[in-house]
Amino acid sequence: MSEKKLKIAVIGAGIIGCTSAVVLIESIPNVDITIISEKFTPNTTSDGSGGLIYPYLSGSTDRQRIRKWINNSLVYLNKYYQLPDSGKFGIGLLSMYYLLEDEEVFDYPDFDDIMISQRPMTSSELKQFSSSSSSESQNKWTKGVYVTTYYAECRKLLPYLLQQFKSKGGKVCQQRVDSLQQLIGKYDIVINCRGLEAGKCSADQSVHPIRGQVYRISAPWIKHSVMAGNHYIVPNSDCVVLGGTKQLNNWDTMVDPKDSKDIMDGCSQLIPSIRAAQVVNEWVGLRPGRHEVRLEREVISDGQSNNQLQVIHNYGHGGCGVTLSFGCAHEVLDYVQQIISSNNVKSRL
Ligand SMILES: Cc1cc2nc3c(=O)[nH]c(=O)nc-3n(C[C@H](O)[C@H](O)[C@H](O)COP(=O)(O)OP(=O)(O)OC[C@H]3O[C@@H](n4cnc5c(N)ncnc54)[C@H](O)[C@@H]3O)c2cc1C
Ligand SMILES: *[C@@H]1O[C@H](CO)[C@@H](O)[C@H](O)[C@H]1NC(C)=O
Ligand SMILES: *[C@@H]1O[C@H](CO)[C@@H](O)[C@H](O)[C@H]1NC(C)=O
Repeated sequence: MSEKKLKIAVIGAGIIGCTSAVVLIESIPNVDITIISEKFTPNTTSDGSGGLIYPYLSGSTDRQRIRKWINNSLVYLNKYYQLPDSGKFGIGLLSMYYLLEDEEVFDYPDFDDIMISQRPMTSSELKQFSSSSSSESQNKWTKGVYVTTYYAECRKLLPYLLQQFKSKGGKVCQQRVDSLQQLIGKYDIVINCRGLEAGKCSADQSVHPIRGQVYRISAPWIKHSVMAGNHYIVPNSDCVVLGGTKQLNNWDTMVDPKDSKDIMDGCSQLIPSIRAAQVVNEWVGLRPGRHEVRLEREVISDGQSNNQLQVIHNYGHGGCGVTLSFGCAHEVLDYVQQIISSNNVKSRL
């Protein structure tokens, strides 16, 4: 073996890029990894996420892949949760009610065997929400799922992951990368984690924004998550996130007062004390929507030299990028190991 190190670039420093970079640097010996990104925490979409670990708006991504990614994410989250300082980097256990309306087809989420716990809600649990129905006599929410899961708060987790990455010799560079072609010859492998921008950069027409608006409130008495239709309440370590909207192809990043009213009305119907809580801030983010998550390998070349670049795309995680991040990073590791064991990169080393 020669002494030349395998050179990897991870493009993007949201939760998808940071988990990919950390999992790779912790698992591959003798590797030189650089995160190249335009924005870093606290300025990424991931930083504003509710951080709930549960699938949401993932297009028609193959169900078995989603199940596998979540299952693997939970292995990592559990590992982090067990660390003595897990409280500092925003990972905690969370219980949740996921309510469904009577008219909705009860598509029971097939995660009983994967989540820490998941079961149908009992009638007495459902009764708590009878006053949140518009009609006095009838309960709007007639079905639901009780789940035990985690929250992963990116504004605390991303700085921690970056620090872990650097402490293991990882390099960080603030720069835009519009074309992956420009990296040919400079790196052996590139992990493309540019989120919503991945579409523009590679002319992938299928990437689109799904606009999300949220409140962050101070309500330390709320320790339990509720999802119901468009509305969700997700306690984090020192605030509670209230949402939300899921507006397709809407690029507007300004807070819309109409959405604010809808969020406050909907969430305070579920938990009335929310109205009395102090608002910390309001925020809008654009989820990287796609008909399916793109996690796959591609080989690109510049047509002139014989140089090739191994690319692993990892973007388009819609409303559950935090949820899927560690599981996807684990699959990125599988691909990198495949590339290393193929002759392709070896011959260059
Ligand atoms: C309101 C809201 C609530 C949400 N709640 C949840 C939730 O509860 N649970 C959950 O799992 N998910 C949630 N999501 C979804 C989640 O936030 C996203 O799926 C996730 O953040 C996507 O991560 P990412 O790393 O792909 O993208 P981003 O966080 O957007 O990161 C992309 C990175 O790539 C960089 N980049 C982009 N283009 C370039 C370029 N050309 N050159 C260099 N760098 C580039 C950016 O600067 C950035 O660092 C929510 C989203 C919103 C908007
Ligand atoms: C985040 O954005 C703000 C405002 O544009 C900027 O001042 C700050 O330097 C950015 N932070 C990082 C880590 O890039
Ligand atoms: C989930 O992961 C665990 C631990 O790696 C594994 O034993 C189990 O078979 C996995 N379950 C599913 C449904 O993939």
